Amino acid sequence: MSFIPYDRPVRAAFVGLGRIYDLNVRAYRDNPDVEVVALVDPSEERRGQRGAEWPGARTFASAADLAASGLEVDAVEGLLPIPLHADGVVELLGYGWHVNLQKPMCNDLATAQRMLAAAADNDRVLRVMENYLFYEPLRKLKEAVESGELGDVSGYHMKMVASGRGGWDVPASSYEWQFQQMKRGRGILVFDDGWHKLATAIWLFGPVREVRAWVGSTEVFPTIEIDAPTTIVWEHENGIRGVWDITLAPDMYLRSDYYTNDERWEVTGRRGYARVNRCTGRGIQQPSLEVYADGEMRSYHALDDDWASSFRDSGRHWLRWLHTGEGPLLWSGDDAVNVLRFALAAYASSALGGTGIDPAALE
Ligand SMILES: NC(=O)c1ccc[n+]([C@@H]2O[C@H](COP(=O)([O-])OP(=O)(O)OC[C@H]3O[C@@H](n4cnc5c(N)ncnc54)[C@H](O)[C@@H]3O)[C@@H](O)[C@H]2O)c1
Repeated sequence: MSFIPYDRPVRAAFVGLGRIYDLNVRAYRDNPDVEVVALVDPSEERRGQRGAEWPGARTFASAADLAASGLEVDAVEGLLPIPLHADGVVELLGYGWHVNLQKPMCNDLATAQRMLAAAADNDRVLRVMENYLFYEPLRKLKEAVESGELGDVSGYHMKMVASGRGGWDVPASSYEWQFQQMKRGRGILVFDDGWHKLATAIWLFGPVREVRAWVGSTEVFPTIEIDAPTTIVWEHENGIRGVWDITLAPDMYLRSDYYTNDERWEVTGRRGYARVNRCTGRGIQQPSLEVYADGEMRSYHALDDDWASSFRDSGRHWLRWLHTGEGPLLWSGDDAVNVLRFALAAYASSALGGTGIDPAALE
């Protein structure tokens, strides 16, 4: 890849103006690194609604229309439904645009290879954004681990309760493609949201050598099954073990400005532990990070623990990266494939009744 950093504001287009645009757009506001030149969505209503904020940007019903318009674009923010990621990314890269894609990258390894090949063939950068790596309480958790104050790490525990009441409205159209994904065995909790959780494990403790999983399902409406209860356990190459437990609480009200996930991350060391108490929702109303060692608890009361800020900072990182080309992309296409392998290993293990699977051995 012969990437040449930009010495001027990046000319960017949004492709997909749905629910998550509301958070991704935060990186683009008041950011001298970028000029928003185009907004793309087949929905005229969304183009009108989103376009009001960017009077200098042109709107298009499709990426093909944008490409045909002759408008110069350097990079796109790809906010497409998951089933459109693969063909969408190949198309966007083919127009000569760098792509910052939402997760999950795609459903299988062959498709991931097709997407990476499209980036290489077009000499463009494919980033698969991972906003959780920019969530300040999780960044501080990582700092606590790396500082050594917890002692050597003994284990990593994540918990997620998906509650059915509260939070922001999600359009019915978003659920339509999520249901398609579920029918393909790529559920909303393990695969879609799970992508973030598995990513944090790799980010904190490196490559994974074995995964064991028990993926369950619960019918919430006739023919609609949600992929919980599920438990995934794994071992990193450095010997640290992790566990992620997913529970469904369809009747539980959870206060949230976004989705209604009650989440916890806890790293236990030989001397103490560090725990992030919440993220997307406002479940535990305590400081978002607590660090315990030697009989003393340190609580972080002033972190930017608004989940939306992680989108702002992830996007800013990308737009800055396009000016420098330096440092990790968080994530590159190859990094994202490792997250995909982790998820696919969980499915393979569960299908075999919980047998240990090496993600690197999957074909
Ligand atoms: N990082 C996170 O925590 C997070 C959270 C939610 C969603 N997401 C991801 O964001 C992506 C979008 O999710 P969403 O919830 O915004 O979905 P959504 O259904 O609300 O929005 C998708 C938008 O894409 C538009 N669209 C459909 N086909 C298109 C095309 N060919 N070209 C351009 N636009 C097209 C739709 O009209 C819609 O406006 C998905 O990949 C999802 O997994 C990530």
